[in-house]
Amino acid sequence: MSSNATPRQILVTSALPYANGSIHLGHMLEYIQTDIWVRFQKLRGNQCVYVCADDAHGSAIMLRAEKEGITPEQLIDNVKAEHTADFADFLVDFDNYYSTHSEENRELSELIYNRLNAAGHINTRSVTQYFDPEKGMFLADRFIKGTCPKCAAEDQYGDNCEKCGATYEPTELKDPRSAISGATPILKDSKHFFFALPDFQDMLKEWTRSGTLQDAVANKINEWLESGLQEWDISRDAPYFGFEIPGEPGKYFYVWLDAPVGYMASFKNLCARRPELDFDTFWSKDSTAELYHFIGKDIINFHTLFWPAMLEGAGFRKPTAVNVHGYLTVNGQKMSKSRGTFIKARTYLDHLSPEYLRYYYAAKLGRGVEDLDLNLEDFVQKVNSDLVGKVVNIASRCAGFIHKGNAGVMVAANPAPELTDAFISATPSIAEAYEKRDFSRAMREIMALADKANAWIADKAPWALNKQEGKQDEVQAICSLGINLFRQLVILLKPVLPTLAADAEAFLNVEPLCWDDLGSMLADHQLNAFKPLLTRIEPAKIEAMVESSKEDLAAAATDTGAAPAGNGELAKDPLADEIDFNTFAAVDLRVALIEKAEFVEGADKLLRLTLNIGDATRNVFSGIKSAYPDPSKLEGRLTLYVANLAARKMKFGVSEGMVLAAGPGGEEIYLLSPDEGAKPGQRVR
Ligand code: MSP
Ligand code: ZN
Repeated sequence: MSSNATPRQILVTSALPYANGSIHLGHMLEYIQTDIWVRFQKLRGNQCVYVCADDAHGSAIMLRAEKEGITPEQLIDNVKAEHTADFADFLVDFDNYYSTHSEENRELSELIYNRLNAAGHINTRSVTQYFDPEKGMFLADRFIKGTCPKCAAEDQYGDNCEKCGATYEPTELKDPRSAISGATPILKDSKHFFFALPDFQDMLKEWTRSGTLQDAVANKINEWLESGLQEWDISRDAPYFGFEIPGEPGKYFYVWLDAPVGYMASFKNLCARRPELDFDTFWSKDSTAELYHFIGKDIINFHTLFWPAMLEGAGFRKPTAVNVHGYLTVNGQKMSKSRGTFIKARTYLDHLSPEYLRYYYAAKLGRGVEDLDLNLEDFVQKVNSDLVGKVVNIASRCAGFIHKGNAGVMVAANPAPELTDAFISATPSIAEAYEKRDFSRAMREIMALADKANAWIADKAPWALNKQEGKQDEVQAICSLGINLFRQLVILLKPVLPTLAADAEAFLNVEPLCWDDLGSMLADHQLNAFKPLLTRIEPAKIEAMVESSKEDLAAAATDTGAAPAGNGELAKDPLADEIDFNTFAAVDLRVALIEKAEFVEGADKLLRLTLNIGDATRNVFSGIKSAYPDPSKLEGRLTLYVANLAARKMKFGVSEGMVLAAGPGGEEIYLLSPDEGAKPGQRVR
């Protein structure tokens, strides 16, 4: 079985973490997601390169270094060493981990800026801003504090009030103060440089609709595009830690200008060491290589508007796709320092093996942008039951018999070809799930195979046969097949569990396994001694990790890091527009009884539903056919109905309101139902 005729050339990035703080488990969601995808591509024989870097510029870093009494260069070196160790210990295998504070990045940022400028995409104008007269610097919104103009809450940041949620201009704050020096800021003018984003409106409209983005992301961007793009302020005044704008002394590139260029710079730096890699092959306008950025949902605008526009304007290729993931919550809530659920990567590693978390994230990550919950109880239960109870169990059940009964040599007999066939025929679907980043589906399908193997071994019960006369051959055949099935599972899980795979390869006495090895079985093969591969998570370890995360807080209390950037505590979901209570209450939600559900002639997605809403019936067309191929099964069940949605005239008739369903679409559409006892027509409140 050959997985690839021509290997693809793929460049992959994760967002560059800020160089002013530690990596936590929220960040790790992204780096683990990306690493699994990259390892899968490499296992398939594609040329896949994974680069990243620290995002080292900006005023937050400058101010933090100042407070620590070191230079920004020293600070970013220290942080880079810490980040690099965290990633390595989580088995995140970058081809290059670099820094945006590098010569390559300076050159490329200047090149891009100069090209944009030459093409007329850079404008300048004067901007009035608060200025700290003591510190001698302009103040970003988050460095200004004062009293909320709406609710009079004190000590609020310059752009929004945490008490009442109001957003405003820093100049509207009452009693403004500099959060850095405490001085009263003054208003001051300065020349700023702007990138003419509106010049790229048409290109962006097309690019965002060309399959490069998940639906939820494309919809959000469409809203931005519809409401019209603004020019983007790309300059900051000295003092600033960053790159000076060519020919403009005292003016610096805003950190978000050179940060994404850091992707290119890290790759360029790698090219100098890896002769088979050529910069232009990956970045020239006509490149046929693939380029993917993995990012969190808080930084979508930078990656789907500014960055593609910069690339286009400077004559480079654009990303093949931007893959957005949601935010991590722990035990159903946003990470909290007081609850001990703001867990740093290092704190986790002090207590637990990285592969547990890699597996858990894989088991929960789909293609969407929904938030993902790390429920610590579920984490222990799932890892213990799947990895230890299902996968490792197969090897530990079978290895002993082969070592004792046959000197560790696997025999060639296959006592269950139907089982090996089932494994082989399941692999294309698992490969497809990995490729589409639907890791949860991949894990589900792999565990279903592990269940099959375990059930078969339990049924054959080699431990019982082994006690009977003349059954040795059968025992060896069963256990050899067991080990072969284990080997298949190891290959399928290798992107997620690289250390388990390496240990298994040592036990199996084989060269590093790749995807194509799924097509073969070991026969007449000598095994090495079996050592336990992964052990159960003891819940006490979790408690200890949570406890020391609380201790981290005590240590961090002395460190009042000036910038909230990158702390993982996202206040609002950037993909969800907030609505006020009255808007919500205006939706008339009712319980409805589905009296009739039928196909609509000529419509491939729609079902016609006849709803009983208590005192009346309603006709609704609903795009749920793909999930309910037998509509009659819906008849007689209750669902939820939006009663005051304006009626819509469709090709097939008038649709009066709509029913509510969840899920990404296709077969996965789940009509919502109230609890038993609800009556048609009852209002939801
Ligand atoms: N420096 C910028 C990225 C520049 S890319 C050219 C930045 N850094 S960050 O450290 O704040 O975040 C790095 C990545 O981690 C981002 O993609 C961000 O979305 C992700 N996450 C940070 N906290 C997270 C969670 N709590 N959950 C999931 N992802 C999170 O943004
Ligand atoms: Zn307020």
